[in-house]
Amino acid sequence: MNKKIVIGCDHAGFILKNKIIEFLKEKNYIVEDIGCYNTDSTDYPLIAQQLCKKITSKEYEKGILICGTGIGMSIAANKVKGIRAVVCSDTTSAKFSRQHNNTNVLCFGQRIIGEYLAKDICEIWLDTEFQKERHLKRILMIEDSIDE
Ligand code: RB5
Repeated sequence: MNKKIVIGCDHAGFILKNKIIEFLKEKNYIVEDIGCYNTDSTDYPLIAQQLCKKITSKEYEKGILICGTGIGMSIAANKVKGIRAVVCSDTTSAKFSRQHNNTNVLCFGQRIIGEYLAKDICEIWLDTEFQKERHLKRILMIEDSIDE
């Protein structure tokens, strides 16, 4: 079965996004790249909102967002009901964000981490399953607390 994923960036994440796309393709993912497609200045909330819609509509299970720090993308993504985004610069957080928080969006900062660490984080995040058990009710508590 082919795995598929959606990815997006702003101008400050463009270079790292291309490296991550290459890596995902090597791992046999079908990748939809929603832009941006160059380093001209752009607004990260627009890309984050566009990507999150593709997840809440169930077109994709998971997505990756890259900006300068990963912070703006993760803030914007976490405003969308049903999205649990993590900005990650270490492999342990990547693992636990999947096991305990069932994160569905991974954010990176191109100005923060290097290509090889980002790829390691990506691999762990993609391959780690949600543990459900006691964690599911906590996620539902978060969903219930969001103002419509
Ligand atoms: C763009 O300069 C930068 O602010 C953006 O990529 C991101 O880091 C915001 O959080």
